[in-house]
Amino acid sequence: MRNPLPDLKKTDADSILHPSTNANDFAKTGPRVMKSGQGVYLHDIEGNKLIDSVAGLWCVNVGYGRKELADAMHAAATEMGYYHTFTGMSNVPQITLAERLLSIAPANMSKVFFASGGSDGNDSLMKIVWYYHNLIGKPEKRKIISRWQAYHGTSIATASLTGLPSFHRDFNLPIEGVIHTESPDYFRHAHDGESELNFSKRRAAELEASVLEHGPETIGAFIAEPVMGAGGVITPPEGYFSEIQKVTRKYDILFIADEVVCGYGRLGRWWGSDVYGIEPDMINTAKALTSGYFPFSASFITEKIWDVIKQGSAKYGSFAHGYTYSGHPVGAAVAMANLSIIENEKLVERSAKHGAYFHQKLQETVGTESFVGEIRGQGMLAAVQLMQEASTKTFFNPNTKIAPLVTAECYNNGLIARPLPSVDSVAFSPPLVASKAEIDQIVDIFNHSVRKVMAAQ
Ligand SMILES: Cc1ncc(COP(=O)(O)O)c(C=O)c1O
Repeated sequence: MRNPLPDLKKTDADSILHPSTNANDFAKTGPRVMKSGQGVYLHDIEGNKLIDSVAGLWCVNVGYGRKELADAMHAAATEMGYYHTFTGMSNVPQITLAERLLSIAPANMSKVFFASGGSDGNDSLMKIVWYYHNLIGKPEKRKIISRWQAYHGTSIATASLTGLPSFHRDFNLPIEGVIHTESPDYFRHAHDGESELNFSKRRAAELEASVLEHGPETIGAFIAEPVMGAGGVITPPEGYFSEIQKVTRKYDILFIADEVVCGYGRLGRWWGSDVYGIEPDMINTAKALTSGYFPFSASFITEKIWDVIKQGSAKYGSFAHGYTYSGHPVGAAVAMANLSIIENEKLVERSAKHGAYFHQKLQETVGTESFVGEIRGQGMLAAVQLMQEASTKTFFNPNTKIAPLVTAECYNNGLIARPLPSVDSVAFSPPLVASKAEIDQIVDIFNHSVRKVMAAQ
């Protein structure tokens, strides 16, 4: 019998344009093809067992192979399968989900808009910012401020918000009206001897200067991840969001919290906004809402914004925005079952407890090595900053591509970790169900893999 494996890999390489993949390298290496998963483990088609310390793309918070989610999906698909939510139509799962989400969302959130992913959600909120300001008679208040190093998606508008140059270069982005302010990356950008608080104040002053330069009457919203994910797992330095919010409030700038990675317990609380004292006008969530089992997002708005949208309909007719799959009943049913797992298994509390353990283990194992600049993160989100020499704060030559070298070695040793090449860091966001023994295994494999790569530099 023919061996089917090489065929699968070849067919993939011959036929698929992979997202966020180096097309040139990929033509030589081909894909790594996953076949099955259980808990924190995956099996690829070559029979390798891998521990996934990233939860897919920071989303499989309840772990792989959960029958409860499969059952919910099956029941909702059998019951009806699909019905849309345009023109006032609805379905039972989206109603029960909306009620449940609003009961756990930060208190000032009043309505939820459903779509199919993080980019859709941020796109929708950006449009709502424009719509809102047009309706309240401030049509010029339409510029959105994002931050360098941010990640907000890859649609035309959200790739513009994303503050990573590779998402702009040669795509004719960013679009007009998106402004980037400096990132909260204290490790990289603090001046010698500058305290975290002073750095935060400087960032807020730079934001204010940018607002004044463009004209406060032209700035509609500011968007931020509570902890930056793909841009480096950058936790806000002391006082950062309180200083930033002084500026956004002063100039009547709406605050969008992008909780696509942080939401639903990743940081040890339900919301990153709660961890850092953010009081947003809008919140975008996706990923862990269904633990990645179904493409689904939930974006929240306050009553103040809702009121204006209602007035808009009185003036213009329907709110002319939405997607075929907004409020998909199968996705909503999966989200309900997923939230039940999070609550029944106390995964938010577990994330706080096991997150602290994970950080402590990383610190004990590699924290004082000369190749580690810092270990950052919060809850079950962490990154190790790799350095040529930490004591002199010497970064690697970017051509070394140190983070992918380390994660490739991790993979050879049975661990999936995420390289963040733009900041020479390796990121971890294990499923929240990971046990302490599994966290030990992640740290052990990372430890010997990173040492092996560093010894060869
Ligand atoms: C913070 C954040 N926002 C938005 C997105 C975009 O989500 P999606 O890939 O589902 O469009 C991501 C994806 O990683 C993200 O990390």
